[in-house]
Amino acid sequence: MKVVGLMSGTSGDGVDAALVEITGRNKSLRAHTLAAQTLAYPRTLQQRIVTASVSGTVGEICHLNALLGEWFADAALQVIRRAKLRPTDIALIGSHGQTVHHLPHGIQAPGVGAIRSTLQIAEPAVIAERTGITTIGNFRARDIAAGGQGAPLTPAAHALLLKHPKRARLVVNLGGISNVTYVPRGGSEEGVVAFDTGPANMVLDGLVSRLTGGRFLMDRDGKMASRGKADTRLLGKLLAHPFLSKRPPKSTGREEFGPALVDELIRAQHQQKLSMEDLLATCSMWTAKAVGTSRRWIRGHVDEVVVGGGGVRNRVIMGHLSSVFSPVPVTTFDALGWDSKAFEAVAFALLAYQTALGRWGNLPAVTGATHPVILGAVVPAGPHWIKRFHT
Ligand SMILES: Nc1ncnc2c1ncn2[C@@H]1O[C@H](COP(=O)(O)OP(=O)(O)O)[C@@H](O)[C@H]1O
Ligand SMILES: [Mg+2]
Repeated sequence: MKVVGLMSGTSGDGVDAALVEITGRNKSLRAHTLAAQTLAYPRTLQQRIVTASVSGTVGEICHLNALLGEWFADAALQVIRRAKLRPTDIALIGSHGQTVHHLPHGIQAPGVGAIRSTLQIAEPAVIAERTGITTIGNFRARDIAAGGQGAPLTPAAHALLLKHPKRARLVVNLGGISNVTYVPRGGSEEGVVAFDTGPANMVLDGLVSRLTGGRFLMDRDGKMASRGKADTRLLGKLLAHPFLSKRPPKSTGREEFGPALVDELIRAQHQQKLSMEDLLATCSMWTAKAVGTSRRWIRGHVDEVVVGGGGVRNRVIMGHLSSVFSPVPVTTFDALGWDSKAFEAVAFALLAYQTALGRWGNLPAVTGATHPVILGAVVPAGPHWIKRFHT
């Protein structure tokens, strides 16, 4: 089955799209990527998303939901064209959407208790309408309804696609936020442990954009950090961030590692008279060390660390990860034949495939849900999807 996966993470850098051929189920499940690409958001749109995620009005979020639906549909159509296929060749789209808010800890509601919530936008109805392809979106909501944090959902894909018969792998994703998945030897789902580890590109991007007045949006290849020196005092403070010592299941986002933290870091930079390069060097090391704290909650032996996400291209973080995990070797998704930047899009193609087959998508031990559930809300392209209920 040909499935398109669409993903835009907490970085808000653009829509990653992957066209994936998926066959089989359980142990015989196989997937490979036919095409992958990123449709980058223009700077103004990225800024709108970041702002809306913190202080967006209902009107702005309502509008962005429809607007991003168009961007996601475009990303799907482009990746289909890149594979020299037509929309009619595609069975399904799985779209993560764009997270604008994530409140996994719950807010007390009188008489009801703690209510957890999450909000992903990029209207699936728009995607289905523009592409003519049945679209599954809103994957996180059902896991939350079942008592989970709604995140992370990619570990199921890590276990299915990145398992190794003889080696236990620690899969690291360096997106806006960093997260890890422990995939035991052979990939048995029972042994999978996964959680967010803390800051990654979101903090670095926020700093670069603020300190260069928007001239640069990321520390490309880690070049700026490579010219600086990590500050021990600030690093010590950052390593004391309460999220790092929290016990899993845990997930986080822009609420904890977004603009408020960037403000704080810039204040610390002024107080301690650090250069931009020193500040980036400090936060790059913080990222790697925060990933390293994951070992505290992983009992099993790790034979290999495999890193994916846009941060793979940051040489400074990658260098620190090698030191943090030494002597365990650190490699990348690309080295295993998967495009690092597109893997999360592949994961949502796979989750959509599982839903279409009526299979569970979440790992309760990972999200904290009370039971496994079928994830997502389906927008049928046409009557063929509905007809199956009338036979
Ligand atoms: N060449 C590069 N050098 C350093 N960082 C990069 C590079 N390319 C991408 N990135 C980082 O990766 C981020 C996007 O990664 P991605 O995996 O899409 O994260 P998310 O899932 O949070 O959107 C960008 O915001 C940027 O910080
Ligand atoms: Mg992204």
